[in-house]
Amino acid sequence: MFHSHRCFCILCATLTALLALLLMLAAQPAHAADPTKPVSFINTVAPLLKEKCFGCHGAKNPKGKLDMTKYASFRKGGTKDDPVVPGKPDDSYLITVLTATDKKRMPPKDSGDPLPKDKIELIERWIGQGAKLDAGLKPEADLLRELRLRWTPPPPPAAYPYPVTITALAFTPDNKKVVVSGHHELTVWDAAGGKLEKRIYTRARRAMAMVFLPDGKLAVAGGRPGEEGDVRIYDINGGKPKNVNGVAVLDGLNDKGVMVKQLLDADDEVLCLALSADGKKLASGGCDRLVHIWDLSGGYAKVKELPSIENHADWVFGIAFTPDGKRLATASRDKTAKLWDIAAKESILTFPGHQNPVYGVAIKSDGSTGYSVGEDNQLRSWKAAAEGKQIRASGGHGKVILKLVSHPKKPLLATCSADQTVRIWDADKGSAVRTLSGHSDYVYAVAISSDGNLIVSGGFDGEVRVWKVADGALVKAFNASPGLQVATKAPAKK
Ligand code: HEC
Repeated sequence: MFHSHRCFCILCATLTALLALLLMLAAQPAHAADPTKPVSFINTVAPLLKEKCFGCHGAKNPKGKLDMTKYASFRKGGTKDDPVVPGKPDDSYLITVLTATDKKRMPPKDSGDPLPKDKIELIERWIGQGAKLDAGLKPEADLLRELRLRWTPPPPPAAYPYPVTITALAFTPDNKKVVVSGHHELTVWDAAGGKLEKRIYTRARRAMAMVFLPDGKLAVAGGRPGEEGDVRIYDINGGKPKNVNGVAVLDGLNDKGVMVKQLLDADDEVLCLALSADGKKLASGGCDRLVHIWDLSGGYAKVKELPSIENHADWVFGIAFTPDGKRLATASRDKTAKLWDIAAKESILTFPGHQNPVYGVAIKSDGSTGYSVGEDNQLRSWKAAAEGKQIRASGGHGKVILKLVSHPKKPLLATCSADQTVRIWDADKGSAVRTLSGHSDYVYAVAISSDGNLIVSGGFDGEVRVWKVADGALVKAFNASPGLQVATKAPAKK
C-alpha cells in the first residue's frame, strides 16, 4: 500500500487532535447551554452527514438511492420518501435510522459506530426547528464544496515539532534553489547550502506534484487526503513577502500576487502534474480518477480547460506528455499504465505488465517508448504504440518504486523507492547507472534540474539530498522541516 496517501504522520495527527479539541471546546458550551439557539444545517448537520454518511450516500451510486451531498436530493429521499418531517423529529425516518439498534441503524453496524447522542440531539433540534437550509445556500448546492469554502487552513507551524514527509520537490528555473512540500506550505531552500530562504503558505495541506511553467510561475497539485484537492499557480517571487528572522514568508492564501490562479477544486487530492514540451499544456491526475488538461497558451486570464478524460478505474498517480503534446501517458492504482489521445479523448493502449499499482510514468523523447514503475519494484519499458508490448523489466530496487522522472537532456531516468535509495537508469538499456544511497527512510520524491546536472530527493523523514547526476556525489543533505529541533537520543549526563 502506498502509505503516502493518507497522512498518518505524527504532525498531522497531533494537529488534527488539537484542532478537534479546540473545536469541541468552542462548540460544546453553545450547544449544551442554549437549546433554543438555531442549529445551522451547513455548519452543524452537514459536517456530521459528511463524516458518517457521504461515503455510502454520495452523488455516485448512492446506497438506497439517497444522495445526501445536496440538501435538495437529501430531502427528496431515495427508495423511500423524504427522511425528514420538518418540525417532527419523532416522525422523521432520519432519526429512526440514527437511533435504531437493529439492522436499520445508520451507519450500518459493520461500518462504524453510531453517531454520539449529543450529535443526534443536534440533528433532532434542527428538524424540530423546521429543518431549514441556511440563508444564502441553494438547495442544489454541492455540500462538499460548500463545506470546503467554509474551511480555513491553519498556518504552518513556526517551528516543526516533527519532521514533515516530503511528497514533492522541484528545482527553481535557475537550478540554484529547491522548492519542497511542507505542512500547509511550500519551502524554498538554497540547493548548495541547505539554507531556508522562503516559506509560501498554501491552502493545501501538502503538495503532491510541482512543475515550473515557462514564465517562471510554479504549478502545484495537492490537497488534503479525502477532503479536497487543488491545482494552483504560484508566483514564488511575487506578492508582499514578510521578513521573519531572515526568511521571506509569502501568503499563498490571500495574496493575489502569490497565488495567481486556481485551476482546479476537487473533492480529493490531486496527485500528479505534467507540462507539455512546448510549455502550453498542463495536465493533472488524482484521486477522482480523472485527467484534467488546461491550455495555458492564452495566459492565465484565458486558461482553457479541455474536456477531462476518465477511464482509469482508480487513482491516477503519474502523468506525462508525449513530446508532440498530443498524447498523455498515465499511471494508476488500477494496476495499469495507459496512453491517451487527447483530441479523441480515447485510450490508445493499456499496459498491464505491473499487475500491481503503477506509481510513475515517463515517455522517451522520441515518443517511441513508455516507461513505468510501481508496487512490483520494477522499471518497465513498453512500446508506445500498437498493443504496448513490454520491451523490458528492470529490477534492482528492493521495495516499491514511488516516482519516476526523465532527465531533460540525456536518455536517463531517475527513480526513488521505499528501499531508501534513488537510482539513475540508462533508459535504453534498462540498466542502473548509479544507486544513490544515504537516505534512511522511504524516498517519496525526486526531481532533476533543468540543466540536467543536479538531482534532488526527499523522504518520509523530511530529509532532502541534493546530488550531482554525473558522479552521484552528494552536494548537500538537510532536513526540510523549518525549525525542527533534532531530537537527542539520550538525555545528557553530567
Ligand atoms: C456503509 C454504507 C452506509 C453508510 C456509511 C450509511 N448508509 Fe444509509 N444506507 C445504506 C444502505 C445499503 C441503504 C439501503 C438499505 C435498504 O434499502 O434496506 C441505506 C439507506 C439509508 C436510508 C434510507 C434511504 C431510502 O430512501 O431508502 C437512510 C435515510 C439512510 N441510509 C441514512 C443514513 C445516514 C443518516 C447515514 C449517516 C449517519 C448513513 N445512512 C450512512 C448504507 C450506508
